[in-house]
Order: sequence, then C-alpha cells, then structure tokens
Amino acid sequence: IKRKKKPLRVYMDGCFDMMHYGHCNALRQARAVGDQLVVGVVSDAEIIANKGPPVTPMHERMIMVKAVKWVDEVISDAPYAITEDFMKKLFDEYKMDYIIHGDDPCVLPDGTDAYAVAKKAGRFKQIKRTEGISSTDIVGRMLLCVRERSVSDSHNHSSLQRQFSHGHSQKLEDGGSGSRSGTRVSHFLPTSRRIVQFSNGKGPGPNAHIVYIDGAFDLFHAGHVEILRVARELGDFLLVGTHNDQTISAKRGTHRPIMNLHERSLSVLACRYVDEVIIGAPWEVSKDMVSTILWFNLLRLIFF
Ligand code: CTP
Repeated sequence: IKRKKKPLRVYMDGCFDMMHYGHCNALRQARAVGDQLVVGVVSDAEIIANKGPPVTPMHERMIMVKAVKWVDEVISDAPYAITEDFMKKLFDEYKMDYIIHGDDPCVLPDGTDAYAVAKKAGRFKQIKRTEGISSTDIVGRMLLCVRERSVSDSHNHSSLQRQFSHGHSQKLEDGGSGSRSGTRVSHFLPTSRRIVQFSNGKGPGPNAHIVYIDGAFDLFHAGHVEILRVARELGDFLLVGTHNDQTISAKRGTHRPIMNLHERSLSVLACRYVDEVIIGAPWEVSKDMVSTILWFNLLRLIFF
C-alpha cells in the first residue's frame, strides 16, 4: 500500500505593512520551499513595540496576505519574534516543519535575533530578500509625492515631478533652498523571469467567460483586492489591464503613480483572483483591444 506523503508545511511571519511585491516575492519563495505555506501576520501591538506603528492595520494586512496566491493559511496576531512557546505551538498545533524569513537580519530592540530559537532547533530556512523595495521606501516616495504636489501648486508641472513619476532616480531639490531630499524612487529592475515567476501560465478554457478590468492599481491595497475578487466572480477568467505611468500622470496628476508600471503589475499578478495582466493597457478599451482579447472567447467588460 502506497502511503500518501505528509505535505511539508512552512511558516513565514512578517508585518506585511503596505504590502508590496517584495513581500509577495518572499511568500512565493517560501511556498516553493514546501507544499503548504502558513503565514503569521504580526499584531499591531507587536509591530508598535518592535518597529513603530504600522501604516496599515491588522485587518487590512490580513486581507492583503490572504489575497496572495501562494498563501495557503493565515494566522492573525502573530508574535514578532519566535519564542520557545510559539515555536512549540507551530510544531504541535499547526504541524509546521520549517520557519522561513528573508536573508536580512531581523534584530529585536534588545539586539538579539528574532529567529534564534528556530535556528537553534534546526528548523530555520532563508529566502532571498527582494532588492529595491521596502515599506520605508514606499513611505519615502509618498512623502516626495506630497512635497512635489506642494511645489506644483506654485510652479505648474515641475520637471522633477515627471522624473519622479516615471521612475528616474533623481533627488528632489528643496524648493530652491539648496538642501536635498534623500528619498529615491524605484530601483526595481523588472526581468522577464520575475514576471514569469509571478504568472499563472494558464490561459482561459475553451468556454471561459472572460472578465476585463483595468486601472492604475497604484499602492495595491485592500480595496483593489476586493474589486478584483468581485470581478473574478463575474466570470471564469480575470484579465486585468494596468495603465502605463504616462497615462496615469496625465489623468491623475504628474506626482502619480507612486509605484511604476512593472511594480504595479507584479502586485496585481500576485493576487489570487487574477489570471492574466495586460502590462500597460490603453486608457480606453479600443476596438482593436477587444478583438485581440475576443479570440479568448466570450468577453464581459467592466470598467474600473
Ligand atoms: N521581504 C523581502 N523583500 C523585501 C521586503 C521584505 O523578502 N523587499 C521579506 C522579509 O525578509 C520577511 C517578509 O518579507 O521575511 C515580511 O517582511 P516584513 O516583516 O514586512 O518586514 P520588512 O523586512 O521590514 O519589510 P519592509 O521593510 O518592506 O516593511
């Protein structure tokens, strides 16, 4: 008799504040270590005690983590550090095999390693941290955006705004005072491999009802997740169009978007309700576009 092998269960914890594609990429790599990925979302109180207040509260962070297609289960109000007691609970109650974290040091306020207990027990595995993105970086971009907006109130369409919106790593001049902001914009280098890693690789079935939704999906948040969930329920295959940076700047102001086209597209692609993304979709759903998509089959359009 062939016994079914027990699935390898892995645990990754984190704050997942202002969820971005770096977090998604960490979850993707963690899931690849085992068969089932359980994610512990650190409580607001624990984040406050260890790093300072999060921008997004617990319930939003839960929505974001649950929406990532590589996540199998979620534990709310997880502790920031792996204690002996919590590790025992993970092994006994949740049947975990390994605890996973990015290869960045995770030190507690007292200087000790948050994963020391798991490492000692031989139950720790590392994944590669994604370069060029962090919550701090996003907050920096948002601050730069606010400054840009106030500058633009006095000088219409500053060229710096355009540089910011289009992802050049220029620094912002401080309104002529000579000092400079240290905030830099996206350092993310999108590769075709990363896009493939995030993709589903499956087209719609022969009689699939395809739903199309488009938008900026800038700073991908719980509201985006909800509309994608609803859109997906309208059919069998959800095709999402992400508008390019120039289009968003033209429609919403030169200080937007905060995340560039590839960053926004990766966040959308990581969402479990999304089947495929048109990266840089036109603002208007043109006849050409509809006929291109129509070969899929029956198309239903909704607008975001
Ligand atoms: N992570 C990653 N790449 C990033 C950011 C985070 O691989 N660019 C990983 C972390 O190593 C961790 C998980 O995502 O395993 C959750 O990270 P989180 O607890 O939210 O903390 P930070 O590392 O502080 O992430 P950020 O600075 O973006 O808030």
